[in-house]
Formats: sequence, C-alpha cells, structure tokens
Amino acid sequence: MKFGYFDDANREYVITSPRTPYPWINYLGTQGFFSLISNTAGGYSFYKDARLRRITRYRYNNVPIDMGGRYFYIKDGETIWNPGWSPVKTELDAYECRHGMGYTIITGKKNDLKAEVTFFVPQNYDGEVQQVVLTNEGSSSKEFSLFSFAEWCLWDAQDDCTNFQRNYSTGRVEVVGSTIYHKTEYRDRRDHFAFYTVNDTIDGYDTDRDAFIGLYNGFHNPEAVMAGKATDSFADGWSPIASHYKKITLAPGESKTLVYILGYVEMPADQKFEADGKTINKVKALKMIEQYDTPEKVAAGMAELKAAWDKLLGILNVETPDDKVNRMVNIWNQYQCMVTFNLSRSASYFESGIGRGMGFRDSNQDVLGFVHQIPDRARERIIDIASTQFPDGGCYHQYQPLTKKGNADIGGDFSDDPLWLILSVSAYIKETGDWTILDEMVPYDNDMSIAQTMLEHLKVSFYHIVNNLGPHGLPLAMRADWNDCINLSCYSDTPGESFQTYTNPKFAAEGGYSKIAESVMVATLFTYTGPNYVAILKHLGKDDEAAKAQAEIDKMKANIMESAFDGDWFLRAYDAEGKKMGSKECEEGKIFIEPQGFAVMSEIGKEEGADIKTLNAIDKYLNTDFGLVLNNPAFTKYYVQYGEISTYPGGYKENAGIFTHNNAWIICAEAYAGRGDKAFEYYSKIAPAFTEETSDIHKTEPYVYGQMIGGKDAGSDIGKPGNHFGQGKNSWLTGTAAWNMVAISQYILGIAADFDGLRIDPSIPAAWDGLSAKREFRGATYDIKVTNPNHVCKGVKAVTVDGNAIEGNVLPAFGDGKTHTVEVTMG
Ligand code: BGC
Ligand code: NOJ
Repeated sequence: MKFGYFDDANREYVITSPRTPYPWINYLGTQGFFSLISNTAGGYSFYKDARLRRITRYRYNNVPIDMGGRYFYIKDGETIWNPGWSPVKTELDAYECRHGMGYTIITGKKNDLKAEVTFFVPQNYDGEVQQVVLTNEGSSSKEFSLFSFAEWCLWDAQDDCTNFQRNYSTGRVEVVGSTIYHKTEYRDRRDHFAFYTVNDTIDGYDTDRDAFIGLYNGFHNPEAVMAGKATDSFADGWSPIASHYKKITLAPGESKTLVYILGYVEMPADQKFEADGKTINKVKALKMIEQYDTPEKVAAGMAELKAAWDKLLGILNVETPDDKVNRMVNIWNQYQCMVTFNLSRSASYFESGIGRGMGFRDSNQDVLGFVHQIPDRARERIIDIASTQFPDGGCYHQYQPLTKKGNADIGGDFSDDPLWLILSVSAYIKETGDWTILDEMVPYDNDMSIAQTMLEHLKVSFYHIVNNLGPHGLPLAMRADWNDCINLSCYSDTPGESFQTYTNPKFAAEGGYSKIAESVMVATLFTYTGPNYVAILKHLGKDDEAAKAQAEIDKMKANIMESAFDGDWFLRAYDAEGKKMGSKECEEGKIFIEPQGFAVMSEIGKEEGADIKTLNAIDKYLNTDFGLVLNNPAFTKYYVQYGEISTYPGGYKENAGIFTHNNAWIICAEAYAGRGDKAFEYYSKIAPAFTEETSDIHKTEPYVYGQMIGGKDAGSDIGKPGNHFGQGKNSWLTGTAAWNMVAISQYILGIAADFDGLRIDPSIPAAWDGLSAKREFRGATYDIKVTNPNHVCKGVKAVTVDGNAIEGNVLPAFGDGKTHTVEVTMG
C-alpha cells in the first residue's frame, strides 16, 4: 500500500494521506540552522547542535506520536483545523505534503478554504521561513482566525527534559509589534536568543503555554484557539511559547499571504542590550526579518535553494532502465547522504539529538557518500575527525560538533575506527586529485603542538591494527568493532552498564579489553582498506614503505585463511576465551554478514573458491524477502561473552535484524565478483523506492534508508514469527546512505573515482541493455553511454573517449572544463 508518490521532475515525494504508517519527515537547513519537519508539521529546530542549542521543544516517545511542531490553527466558524491535519486532526477535504530538497510544502483544504504552507531554511540564513498562503475557494466571503504556534525549548535539550525545578522558573520573553523574542538566560550567560515573527500586524499573541493551551487541554484543543481569541499572555517562567493571532477576511477567490520567520541570533557580548542594559539589541534580528518579509523575497530564497540543489545533484546523474534506481541515485540517496553529512547520527525521529554527536567511524563513512558533491567541506570534515585521533592511531569514538573535541565519556578503543580514516582520505583524493590533504598538519587529540601530517595519521591508523593483534594474528576486537553490540570484553551482568564503555575488572590489568578476543571483521576491513594506503605510498614514491605495508596485508590474508575461514564462510570473531564466534560449530549465530563482503573484495582465498562459497552461503543462510539478516540463527539467549547483540529479541537491530548498512557490503561484493543479478536483487530488496508499494509493512519513509528492517525472526520471542518482519526502523541517520550510494553508483553502475581517473566497470542485471550517465569529475564533464549488447552482468570490452579508443577502462582526468563523450561496450 502506498501513501503518496514520487514527483521526480520536482524532486519531491508527495504524501497524500496524513496518516502515514509512521511520521515521514524531512530536513530543512544545511549550514547552521536545522529543522526536522514531519508530514504533519511536527518536529523541531536547533542551531548546529541538537543538544546544546535546541530552539523549539519536541516530545520524543509521546502518545500520540509526533507531538510538538510548528502548528497553524485555523478557526473558521466552529471548525478548527490545521493545514497539516495534526494536531487537531479534523478531517480535511484535501491534504498534501510535498517533501522536497530542503523544503516542505503542506497544503490542507477545509470548507473551501485552502492553506498552503511552505517551510524552508534559506541558504546562509539562521532561520526557518514559513509562508502561509490562504485562499478562499468558495463563492461567499470568509471570516476566520489564524493562530501560529511554536514552543520554545530552554536551549539545552537534555536539561530541558529533566531539570524542572529550575526550568519552570527561568523562561523569559519580549514582545515587540509582531515579533516574539525568546530570551531565557540571555541576560546572564547566553549570547543567543530566538524570535518568531510575521510580516503583518497581529490582533493578539500568546507567550505562555498554559494560557494558550490550558493545563488540561492539549495541542489538539488549545483553549485560546477554541475561544477564538489570543489572551496576550506574557510568559514569566513556566513554559514560554510563541503564538500570533490574526483575524482574516477573504472575498471569494481572494488570497492572502503571510510570511513567518523562526530565527536564531547570536550577539557579541558587548552588544547584547540596548542602552537600558536589559532590552535585547535587535539590530541583527531586524535585519534578518527584513531579508524575508515579502512573498517576492521568499520566492527568491526558494529559487536560490533550488539552484543550490540543482548544482549538488547535477554532479552525478544516471539514466538506467529502472526508474526506481534513477530516483534513488539522482535524488534521494544523494540527498540523504547530505543529511548524514550535516547531522551525523544526532537528530532524527529515532535519535534524540541529545546522546550522540559525530562518530569517528560514522562520519568517515559518510564522506564516501557525499564527497563528490562537496569536496571542500569533506576535506574540512576529514581534518576535524582526524584531529580527534590519538598519536598511536587509536581514536576518540565521538566528538561534539560545537566543540569538535573528542568525547571523553565514550573514550576510544573501538577496533575498527582508524581504518575508516584511510578510506575517507582515499575517497577524497580519488574524487579530487588533491594530494595536498596528505601534507596538512593535523593535531592529535586536538593538540596542535603534537600535530603531524595527514599522511602520518594514515600511517598510525594502519599500524594501529598491525600493532594490536591477538593470538591468531588477527586484530584485537577491543571494546567493539563496527558492530557496537559485539562486546567481547564486557561480560556485563549489571543493569545500566553501557556495553560500549563498561570495563570489566577482569580485563583492567590488560588495559581494559581482552588480549585474546579478535575481530575477523576488522581483519577483512584491513585487507580491503589497506591497499588504498599502499597506493598512496606508491604514488608518493615511498616504495619501501609501500612494500612493508603490502607485506602486512598479505600476512593478514594468510592469517585469515589459516584461522578464520570456516569452510564455507569467514568466522566473525574469536571471543575472550579464544572460542570461535560465527562458526558452524556454534549453536546460534553460526554465520555473520560483516566480515564476508570485505573478504570477497580482498580476494581472500579466491584461488580456493572461498569468495563464491562465501557469497553462496550468505544467499543460503542470510537472504530473506526484505534483505539480508545480520546473523543466523538469531541469538535466543543472553550470551554474557558476546554482550549487547544477544540482548535484542531475534530479528531486531544487531541480533539478526536486516542491518541495511552491511547489506551494502554484500551488494558491493556480489558486484565485484561479477554477479550483477544478485547484487541488484539485494539492492532492490532494501532500496527505499522499492519499498514504496509495501509502505504499510515497511512503515518508514519510502525515500530514505533506515538503519534496519525487522528480520525474519522478528516476533519470534512472542511465538509469532514474522510479526514485524520487513518493518523499517531508525530512518535517515545511518551509514547505510553512504554505503548504498557507493554500492549502486560505484559497484553496480560502475562509475567510480579512482586515484588515476574515473573507472567505469558496471556489474548490472544481465537483462539491462545498458545505461547512461553524466558525471562531473575533476573539472570536466563525462557524458557516458554504456551498452550491453551481449547481456552480460560484468565486463568491459571497449571504451572510446570522444570517438577514440582507449586502453583499459579508466577515463583520464581531463580537467579542461569540457564535456567528453564516453562510449563503453560491455561483453
Ligand atoms: C546500538 C547501536 C549503536 C550504539 C551506539 C547501540 O545500543 O544498538 O546500533 O551504534 O548503541 O552507541
Ligand atoms: C549504528 C552506529 O552508528 C554505527 O557506528 C555502528 O556501526 C552500527 N550501529 C552497528 O552497531
């Protein structure tokens, strides 16, 4: 069942029913000011950091779902309604929500009155603009009132939902004309305030929540709206809000446009107040208000936003025989990658914006998805991340975007972290050809006095693995590897201990983690990532170092074949007692997905057929109708030696859920192995556009990936297998976005930036006649046409550039600003 449709020409998903199976959201903003907005206008705004600069309040885990947002209430006679249906939930005569690139347009119609609200954050602007167009589509005149509504959060989102004894007594506002200013703590220790304004006179306002809503009412029946009149309340402590009240009369056919702005302002400490020392100095705010105080200015802002996205999405454009692939690659997957660049794992409808800042491994992997769109910002981001690394190559696992300092509460010792830096730096160089990033002086632990070049950071990353091997010569698992929930040194039996940070005393003497437990996944990630480091060294003419590094990779491969190939697939790990995890010998969790794809792409044991055996085992044991489960059979007991993974009911999260992130690694591996049909089968099982028809099962947005989909064992705990099988969760902020972008564009469609040019090597369904693509790359445009006359999955027979045949399948970097015609024949 569908709840809308793709409007590809406008790059929008159009939702036609407000009752989506879960709130379907969008993101506004790309620089400092961000908003989350659902299809019923729920959500909230923040500046840069969703925890420390939360501007409006939101209630996670609320009943009913999705409470808190920017709401417009219309009182037309006795009927009260919202253009986005919620929170009043009056049945509308028409409803539509268009989620587009950085904007959302919600239109509702009731009793001949149409309200179209456009929400967006303009480029380089710290505010959300909301344009309300009201049209009387009836044949008689209409008189009604319009109330706006936003609820202020008291800045620190964590404190805001816990510290009520203080927070009920701190709220402060100012009201001047049609602008309501939120200035809690501004006088004392904050140099920022927020405002909510409208470009017209108003007939009243409210700034106190209890006065507007009423203590025993809700967002669905605010007292002031029901009474048809604002109370002009002035918040003093308790819960400050902002609501404008306006009486409107429209003749038949007449329209009225109002522009509201929710803005954020920072002031230099010595310019915070007017001469009286307490009234806000509004110079900056008024300038912001003036920037968008007419519909013409709004239209110009929207046009500028659109032009920015045209540019970002113009860099890679494909035309394949499958519309769903085209809309994922050209629009939504790239869009989601930009959102993960901006937000990492901080704020979504599943991530509260409080707990997690930027992850070392997460943000490095995100780079793979957006580096072609914003290489300069990717460079900056990579340097920020690398700056939190330790001199020995270990890394802080997370940092806060506001401070950019490593987060000491979480600490380090995640075994996979350093490797992702090698991958992101390589991706950046492959895209841009800018080798100077390697010369950049980058601090360790944010301390510039011990800075080293980025190349040195790569070296310590590489050798951090080599220097931390266990008894089988495989990398130590440490606190966890990519799978945060395999915690082989934790042995936690006490509620509340964090599986990621708790140190079991039995390993205290060994430095906090077992020196026995080893991760096969990190081993194969090392053999997959390492060759990039070798290629970099060779390019720099450091042949001795390159040979030394290559020898370590070869040794690791041998160790893996010696101790970690289980006959038909690769083991997952050795636990702290030296026992195999992810083996035929195990009672549960016999096979895991994570090490396999990297092993295949590293060609480990290829000569003995290990690659194909492994891929076939995945198909046999992990493949389901909705994607590949992470492990099989699911754990049905708590295994203290494995940690968090076995705390989840089977089919959820890391315990045999369909973790879409690592599905991509198998898609890449199948494509790499030349099995384009299989690669595409797996791709199309999880790619959001393919889930659209079954949105009633999949539940989350059909335009973006979620972190997981319920696996085949979902529900098995309650004796109803398949209960939530196929149900998506944790949409938007996931490494799945970047990795599936890599899987489809680089491995399946086969257009991949490489150190020495643009490599074309498709691995597609045999049935396809070919594909075409436009790719901007290092200052030139490549107009690529691939034909597949013999209907093979993989194999490039001939390539011509501007009519001339070239050797091999790597297109040179022309850098001449021109368009080059490329013809690729498969066979
Ligand atoms: C989740 C993981 C997540 C981790 C972050 C765990 O509880 O299951 O998916 O990466 O927390 O700390
Ligand atoms: C989500 C985390 O953001 C990511 O870092 C981790 O790799 C996966 N969960 C798997 O545990």
